Amino acid sequence: MDYSSSIQDLIISRRSCRNYGQSQIAFEKRKALCRIWGEFEKPFWGNTPRFQIVDIGPPGKGRMTGTYGMIRGAGAFIVGAVKRGPGDMEDFGYLFEKIVLCATDLDLATCWIGLTVARGPLADKIDLLPDETIPAVAALGYPAKRRSVVETLTRSSLGASKRKPWKTMFFDGAWHSPLVKSAAGRYETPLRMLRRAPSATNKQPWRIIKQGSVFHFYLQRSPGYQMMTGAADLQRIDMGIAMCHFEMTARELGLDGHWAEIDFAPAEPLPKRAEYVVSWMAR
Ligand SMILES: Cc1cc2nc3c(=O)[nH]c(=O)nc-3n(C[C@H](O)[C@H](O)[C@H](O)COP(=O)(O)O)c2cc1C
Repeated sequence: MDYSSSIQDLIISRRSCRNYGQSQIAFEKRKALCRIWGEFEKPFWGNTPRFQIVDIGPPGKGRMTGTYGMIRGAGAFIVGAVKRGPGDMEDFGYLFEKIVLCATDLDLATCWIGLTVARGPLADKIDLLPDETIPAVAALGYPAKRRSVVETLTRSSLGASKRKPWKTMFFDGAWHSPLVKSAAGRYETPLRMLRRAPSATNKQPWRIIKQGSVFHFYLQRSPGYQMMTGAADLQRIDMGIAMCHFEMTARELGLDGHWAEIDFAPAEPLPKRAEYVVSWMAR
């Protein structure tokens, strides 16, 4: 799977767009997007989500309400569906983010949407099977010339351009010991790119403990957030997105490694609402 820009450039340039213009998405770009999910290898937990571009109307018209940060003008959505199973949301987020970065590479704008809107019409359009669910979709198109007022307000209320401080996300062997950047070694850049990942309501629930050459990934759930809306478990999707940024950057830098579930138990108790997810074993 090749991108024309570097992964780091794509991660840095991607941002959520909530106001779309009237240009049609060129056929070649649609084909390139479909090609990418045709080439996916099985993700870590082995789930096989499927993806489809769904047109809902002319670009530049229409609104998607019922979700935070109203989406205006998107004529198309990337819709993904997955069967329920262990790691389903993480695998879904991991693969879907590869598509989002591919769209960025094609100069298309996107916005992840954790569905709180009616899923019925989208389910019909992709012939959703009884054992499948649509955890999230992404608006797709060209950005409008200007941000709408709603979009500007949404971004500022989410602090969308900001991320939590490095020292509150990355730890060195123990939760009370923040990871200094120099101690991250060659993994400073993959961690920096992870930190830029999009997450639902910008909660950034990722916590990573480095222990030697192993990076243990934990999900620290935001209080009162889980299932607040009846949506899918969006924070597990966030986790898959973070894994995608981390791994793709590492691979681009020639850093070899693989994912494993090893249930690492640090000496101290876990912070509140934190749960172990997976570890990256660097070689
Ligand atoms: C799983 C997921 C669900 C999201 N759901 C929505 C949504 O329903 N509505 C919305 O406007 N933005 C949604 N977002 C976008 C986030 O609010 C956005 O990624 C975050 O504020 C950071 O901004 P950035 O993407 O511009 O870096 C979602 C993002 C993710 C990863």
